[in-house]
Amino acid sequence: MTTTKTNLSQELVEQLEKHIGAYSFGNDPQQLYDPIAYIMSLGGKRIRPLLTLLAYSLYRDDYEKILTPAAAVEVFHNFTLVHDDIMDEAPLRRGEATVHKKWDTNTAILAGDVMLVKVYDMLLHVPEDKLAVCLRLFNQTASEVCEGQQHDMNFETREQVSESEYLEMIRQKTAVLLGFALQYGAILGGASLEDSQHLYEFGVNVGIGFQLKDDLLDVYADKAKFGKQVGGDILANKKTFLLIKAKELATGEEKRQLEGWLGKDEFDKVEKVEKVTAIYDSLGIKRITEAKMESYFQQGFAQLSALEVKKPEVLVALKGLTQNLIDREK
Ligand code: IPE
Ligand code: IPE
Ligand code: MG
Ligand code: MG
Ligand code: MG
Repeated sequence: MTTTKTNLSQELVEQLEKHIGAYSFGNDPQQLYDPIAYIMSLGGKRIRPLLTLLAYSLYRDDYEKILTPAAAVEVFHNFTLVHDDIMDEAPLRRGEATVHKKWDTNTAILAGDVMLVKVYDMLLHVPEDKLAVCLRLFNQTASEVCEGQQHDMNFETREQVSESEYLEMIRQKTAVLLGFALQYGAILGGASLEDSQHLYEFGVNVGIGFQLKDDLLDVYADKAKFGKQVGGDILANKKTFLLIKAKELATGEEKRQLEGWLGKDEFDKVEKVEKVTAIYDSLGIKRITEAKMESYFQQGFAQLSALEVKKPEVLVALKGLTQNLIDREK
């Protein structure tokens, strides 16, 4: 396969798209499998399997061999999105109706369940000598994602959540999957233990930065580009970094107003989002969150310099992908 330095990620995503599009999840009953075809066809950035393929490509040149194991990470991610959208009562995903809105909640639960089973089918394509270690890491990661998701929901109704509790929650719900995606690709490629751990740490740091950016976009994204409901986190009283900082920094009338919005059971949705956003603006929350986000991305980059393997074109692609995550608008 011919590649140039700059379009490696693009080539890998194209191959992944083809592979995912051709994968047969099942047909009958249609009500079970249509939602899977739907969510998987709505695109998305495909960053997790891309990280797997890039990490693998640091060590080997035959990424075609691991397209199914890499796609497994994307199917798992999409399963978490289908269930997350039920939990978050989200109407929109990737610019289209969420599965539980297009069908119904029971359909979304069951489609998600069988997606997780399909993940294990795909993981069975991992070479036998690496299967046990990959499965163990995957199961550890998947449990942590669920733990993070439960903390995220617990925090909605908790008044005080500290910055460190928040950071641990997003490490679990989001960052460990990026870490896993990289470590898994490295293991499949035959990396040393040290390299695979550096790549895991790179992924976790980038993943924390990634969720901070996701929280920022939830408030500040351009609606036309975002593909999700803007303001959803504010409506649900999600204890995001933005809200935690605002609660820390607000004083006097602003503090009273913010607490008022958090305590209201009935409100006009547009008004709540507008008013809470105005408080964030007045406190400079966007800049503070961006600085925190950048510090995690920087810690991530530092891990890459520690790698034993030096394959410039792949490292360039990994850094480029990471920069795109910082700059993204969706
Ligand atoms: C959304 O993930 C869920 C989070 C962990 C923030 P992505 O932003 O990677 O969503 P897609 O797959 O590109 O749609
Ligand atoms: C989701 O976090 C993390 C997982 C899906 C596990 P969010 O709830 O912020 O993700 P979005 O914003 O709905 O994509
Ligand atoms: Mg959520
Ligand atoms: Mg959500
Ligand atoms: Mg979000």
